[in-house]
Amino acid sequence: MKNKQWQLAKRPFGEATSDTWLYAETDVPELKDGELLIKIQYISLDPAMRGWLNDAKSYIEPVQIGAVMRAGTVGKVVASKNENFAEGDYVCGHQGVQEYAVTDGKMLHKVDPKLAPLSYYLGVLGMPGMTGYFGLLKTGEPKAGETIVVSGAAGAVGGLVGQIAKIKGCRVVGIAGGAAKCQFLINELGFDAAIDYKSQNVKKALKDACPKGVDVYFDNVGGDILDAVLTQINMKARIVICGAISQYNNTTPVKGPSNYLSLLVNRAKMEGIVVFDNIAEYPIAMKDIAGWIHSGEIKVKDHVVVGIEKFPDTLMMLFKGENLGKLVLKVGDE
Ligand SMILES: NC(=O)c1ccc[n+]([C@@H]2O[C@H](COP(=O)([O-])OP(=O)(O)OC[C@H]3O[C@@H](n4cnc5c(N)ncnc54)[C@H](OP(=O)(O)O)[C@@H]3O)[C@@H](O)[C@H]2O)c1
Repeated sequence: MKNKQWQLAKRPFGEATSDTWLYAETDVPELKDGELLIKIQYISLDPAMRGWLNDAKSYIEPVQIGAVMRAGTVGKVVASKNENFAEGDYVCGHQGVQEYAVTDGKMLHKVDPKLAPLSYYLGVLGMPGMTGYFGLLKTGEPKAGETIVVSGAAGAVGGLVGQIAKIKGCRVVGIAGGAAKCQFLINELGFDAAIDYKSQNVKKALKDACPKGVDVYFDNVGGDILDAVLTQINMKARIVICGAISQYNNTTPVKGPSNYLSLLVNRAKMEGIVVFDNIAEYPIAMKDIAGWIHSGEIKVKDHVVVGIEKFPDTLMMLFKGENLGKLVLKVGDE
């Protein structure tokens, strides 16, 4: 049986380009005792994948040249010599950008397609969902009546953060690129206000949208937007550093916030988060989020692109702002 894979061919300088990747058709190996074969159905596309291409120290090892590109996946077990998994089970893990994966089952967990569409396990009930939930609630510590600003607001993490903050009784302001995304935030996700950073002066728009100042800023983008929000924070504000997508493809040093003294003046804190620190508590978050989806308090938006062949271009959609909601690549037809 043949497998389709995307391997890392060359580390990019700046944006990933066509020579970053190698498309390979390989043989699916025979299963050894303890192994199982997964037919992958959805592949998660995440901004962090750009960071995994750099040969630099981070919270996770870089992807090695020649290796299958790392990615979150959900798929179906089609053969098993592992006593913990049976043919027909659906499983979530990091099986990479490929159609089939052989694994020993470690770091794999079963999911139920009857409880939620499979793609949700890569989005709102998966890694981005856990990021938004714990980043906001544990580090942002929002209180009813406070004002929360979130950037990357129409994406996987940002859209959930804003909706949870609404559930917690906050005023929620999203920052996103383009009028359509801003309309989506207000009309579909129930945000109180939205700022189009591509056409508006963010600092001025924040003054209008946050008349009582900013108590929590959930930062997905870094750069100039982080700097603008820092000018509007309140006493004891919490800045959650979740990501800095505006900086991931830089060929020059990362731009830090020149307005950081606002933290001093306002006795505010800025704290980085890594989702995996909360693994032990994922079930709590999944139960809460599933409940909110069920009650209609949280709306889910997945952006599905079909065809593993499209992986390189689809990944770039994240950096061009071409996704609305959680971006996934659909592999099979099931
Ligand atoms: N710390 C953690 O453990 C953790 C875990 C998961 C994700 N993250 C981070 O969370 C952030 C959001 O991830 P996600 O999966 O939810 O992605 P996403 O928001 O669904 O997609 C990325 C979005 O970023 C925006 N963007 C791209 N380039 C930008 C730029 N130069 N300036 C401003 N915005 C830009 C685009 O939206 P617009 O059209 O609005 O520009 C794009 O749609 C990323 O920074 C990611 O690395 C961190």
